[in-house]
Amino acid sequence: MSTKPSFINELALPAIAAPMFLISGPKLVTECCKNGIVGTFPALNQRTSEGFEEWLIEIKTELDKFEKETGKKPAPFGVNLIVHPTNPRLEADIKLCVKHKVPIIITSLGAVSMVVDAIHSYGGLVFHDIIKKRHAEKAQEAGVDGLILVAAGAGGHAGTINPMTLVAEVKKFFHKTIILSGCISTGRDIASALQMGADLAYMGTRFINTDESKASDEYKKMIIDAGANDVVYTASISGVHANFLGASLKAAGITEEDLKKDTKIDFGKELDTEAKAWKTIWSAGQGSAMIDNSVPVAELISDLKAEFKSAIENQIMVLEKYPK
Ligand SMILES: Cc1cc2nc3c(=O)[nH]c(=O)nc-3n(C[C@H](O)[C@H](O)[C@H](O)COP(=O)(O)O)c2cc1C
Repeated sequence: MSTKPSFINELALPAIAAPMFLISGPKLVTECCKNGIVGTFPALNQRTSEGFEEWLIEIKTELDKFEKETGKKPAPFGVNLIVHPTNPRLEADIKLCVKHKVPIIITSLGAVSMVVDAIHSYGGLVFHDIIKKRHAEKAQEAGVDGLILVAAGAGGHAGTINPMTLVAEVKKFFHKTIILSGCISTGRDIASALQMGADLAYMGTRFINTDESKASDEYKKMIIDAGANDVVYTASISGVHANFLGASLKAAGITEEDLKKDTKIDFGKELDTEAKAWKTIWSAGQGSAMIDNSVPVAELISDLKAEFKSAIENQIMVLEKYPK
């Protein structure tokens, strides 16, 4: 029996638009789902659990309406929950996910069987973020349905391991869904993720530069202007290593000395401070190097599909050339 969920085969592209703090909301999510890829957002993008529930209702209503009007089934949507003792909203937000039967839950920081059991109670799926093998083993023990492998160069809280090694190492013992994250900006990158052994590609930075994201025009321009070397990896902004646009650090007056400091993470008291930091210091991955526009989600997904198809066709041509 396949251990991979059936929705993967119904997508227009094997891709998830990753949840992004202060960037993703209902518009981005629903446009992704309508165009055949998974749309997601962090629960903490709403300041309260009440606000979070409003977004859940808005997304479900919009997607139901789309299905009724077009007869097309939208892709499932997902919510990111920070599973950390300092997140005071965790219990209330899980209850809302259960109440509204959120199809996919993405857990960050902690993988706990209590969350997995709650989501499985209504048939939901849990995918968990990891940056190293040890975290993957713990998440497997907690019973998650899939792992999101956050490799080097990713936007947000990123790892340091090369994607090829990370996928190969985790696939040795984890046989459920593998999702690869980090610098996936083009349709060819999605095809490469599948070649490496992933079932799905997880794309963050690329979706900042869409009409439906909440990012400012200045932020989007900074991504267009950035090369891989303009992205800085530091723990000094939020206590966990993350990638930021160097130009935004400079504009905020952050010095080399500041970048060496480690801050303590706290998603309760510090959420406002964290939000203030991420509002002025902009996160993006090294994949910015391959982003040179900002377009509506529908156009982006259409371009990604064309690039993906052409990359796979090129692979078939390579096969004709080499197995001699
Ligand atoms: C601005 C920004 C904010 C992010 N916020 C979150 C978040 O709140 N929760 C989360 O699980 N991941 C977050 N991430 C990480 C993404 O979900 C994803 O792992 C990453 O963007 C993938 O790498 P890429 O940006 O190179 O495509 C964020 C990434 C960015 C760029």
